[in-house]
Amino acid sequence: MVRRIVELKRDRNAVILAHNYQRPEVQDVADFTGDSLELSRLAASAKQDVIVFCGVRFMAETAAILCPEKRVLLPVLEAGCALADTATAMQVWRMRQLHPLAVVVAYVNTSAAVKAESDLCCTSGNAVEVVRSVEPGHPVIFVSDRNLGQYAARMTGRHVILWEGSCPTHAAVSAADIRRAKSKHPEAQVIAHPECRPEVLDLADHVAGTAGMLAYAAEQPPGTAVLVATDLGVIHRLRKENPDKAFFPATDYLVCPTMKLTTLEDVLRSLETMEPGITVEEAVRVNARRALDRMMAVRETSG
Ligand code: 13P
Ligand code: SF4
Repeated sequence: MVRRIVELKRDRNAVILAHNYQRPEVQDVADFTGDSLELSRLAASAKQDVIVFCGVRFMAETAAILCPEKRVLLPVLEAGCALADTATAMQVWRMRQLHPLAVVVAYVNTSAAVKAESDLCCTSGNAVEVVRSVEPGHPVIFVSDRNLGQYAARMTGRHVILWEGSCPTHAAVSAADIRRAKSKHPEAQVIAHPECRPEVLDLADHVAGTAGMLAYAAEQPPGTAVLVATDLGVIHRLRKENPDKAFFPATDYLVCPTMKLTTLEDVLRSLETMEPGITVEEAVRVNARRALDRMMAVRETSG
C-alpha cells in the first residue's frame, strides 16, 4: 500500500502533509510531519499541484485559504475538530459588537468563516507573541480555546476576553493525572500543551505546542525521561527523533478521536479518486487569508 501511495503521489504531483497527532503509519508515509503552523507554511510554499492533508478539517481549510490554486484533499471528510466547532462566525460578530475596541484573535483551530470574522490568527506555537503584538489599550477577544487564551493572558499581562471553548481531549487531563504519572516516573520532566487546564500547566516543566515539544525534547541530555501531556500521537516522533530518551503519555486517554480517523487506506483512496476536496468560498477565503497573513507577519517581525 505504501508503494502504491508513493507512485500515485508522483503521478498526481502531490505532497502529503501529516499533523504530529496522526497515526504512526500515516506520519511515516508523509513528506512532512509538523504542527499547525509548520504545516500552514509548508502548504503555502508547496510546489506540487495537490496537497493531501492528513489532519483535521480546519487544517485542510487553512491550506485551501493559502493556496486556492491547488487541489487540497482531506482523506476523511468527517475528521473535524471539536474545539473548532465551539465557535461560529455569527457568535464572533456578536462578541465584537459587545467589545467594539477589542481585537479578535482566532486560534487556527477555528473554521474559515470564523477566521474571516477575525483580525488575526495564531497557533499554539505563537499565541503569546500574537497577543503581545496587539496594540496596548485594546482588549483581545481570544477565540476558540479558553485555556490557551488564559495562558497567553498570563504570559503577556494583557486583557484577554476568553471564549467558552476547550478541546475535550486536553481539557480532560487533571492535575491528579499528572501527579499520578509523576509518582510512577518521579525523575520525568512534564511537557504540556497550552490547551491543557491551568492547574495542569502549573505542574509542567515546559508548556509548548507540538513543534515546541519536539524542539525542547531534542535539547535534553541523553537518558532524560519525559511525561507528555498532549495527544499521544506526537510520542511516535518524539521517540523516533530521540532514541536515547524515554517518553510516556501523561494519561492513556489523551487521544484525539478525529485525528486518528485517517488510515493508509484513506490516503490511498484519496489519491486514487482525488476526493474529498476542500474549498473555501472566495469572499470568506480573502478575509480569512488577511487574518492568516497578519499572523505570519507577527512571526516574521518577532523572529
Ligand atoms: P499544534 O499546533 O500544537 O500541533 O496543535 C494542534 C492541535 O490541534 C492541538 O490540539
Ligand atoms: Fe481539535 Fe482537540 Fe483534536 Fe486538537 S486535539 S484537533 S483541538 S479536538
